[in-house]
Amino acid sequence: MIRTEALTRRFGDRLAVDGLTLEVREGEILGLLGPNGAGKTTTVRMLACLLAPTSGRAWVGGHEVGREASAIRSTVGILTESPGFYKRLSLERNLRYFADLYGVSSPRAAARRYLERLGLWDRRTDAVATLSKGLRQRLALARALVHEPKVLFLDEPTAGLDPESARDVRRFIGELTSERRTVLLCTHNLPEAEELCDRIAVLRTRLIALDRPAALKERMSGGRVLVELGNPRPEFATGLHLPFVQRASLEGNTLTVEGANPDRDNPTLVRRLVEMGAEIRSVTRDERTLEDVYLSLMGRDDAAG
Ligand SMILES: Nc1ncnc2c1ncn2[C@@H]1O[C@H](COP(=O)(O)OP(=O)(O)O)[C@@H](O)[C@H]1O
Ligand SMILES: [Mg+2]
Repeated sequence: MIRTEALTRRFGDRLAVDGLTLEVREGEILGLLGPNGAGKTTTVRMLACLLAPTSGRAWVGGHEVGREASAIRSTVGILTESPGFYKRLSLERNLRYFADLYGVSSPRAAARRYLERLGLWDRRTDAVATLSKGLRQRLALARALVHEPKVLFLDEPTAGLDPESARDVRRFIGELTSERRTVLLCTHNLPEAEELCDRIAVLRTRLIALDRPAALKERMSGGRVLVELGNPRPEFATGLHLPFVQRASLEGNTLTVEGANPDRDNPTLVRRLVEMGAEIRSVTRDERTLEDVYLSLMGRDDAAG
């Protein structure tokens, strides 16, 4: 539904997005995860035909960026960091205006449908200026959806919202998948990406990783096993000569063994330690969180360039 090929954008001599190649399948929520300045907004602006790529190509809903801008604009809905509304006009007038702009056949019905869906119907006659930030963000979602786009670009949809409003917005985004809409969700919020996204593209000017959240974690877990000992002795770390062990270290009662694949290697590891005279109290695997993975990917990228 979305495809990019070596998509690149420079601002002067600064690279904002460097050779991005990825694909988002129909009905998929893809997270574009990266710190501030990673190029997320630039990517979305290129895909929404708001900014021309310096080089590379991209297609949205089968239409090529740069060639079929008006077809793309009617295919996509976009929620930007600062959605522009007519603040003195009512919620309903604003939505009807945007529905009209997109050539929706019944702007009134479309506005009503989304005001209701986002829990804003009671506020429909109020001026946008009177809305809290959370409600304004819901209205921005309504605006992004009012012309029933197949593809949605959501740029930091929960940034700056209080936890409760953020949860409402996330819940609503979660519901969109059942409608087969394709979503590109930009965020620097890891739990949000993990909760909502089918796959996560880690971006820092370049694409650093792209996978399902669980697979990203697994890929990085590299097997760390923690063994709690009743009789911690240095030789349990230094004398643990097993082929899969990359590193072993003892700290307090805890022996950390790196390199082990717990499912395959724990029986061997435990047998060996028992032979060495270890009193084992517990054996656990050290699960990495997505945050660990992310930080280590970012660190690795620093090292690389
Ligand atoms: N209009 C612009 N002019 C110059 N530099 C820009 C412009 N827009 C973005 N940049 C730069 O491009 C890089 C990526 O920015 P952006 O895409 O906004 O990142 P993100 O959305 O991930 O925070 C940053 O270094 C930013 O300063
Ligand atoms: Mg941004």
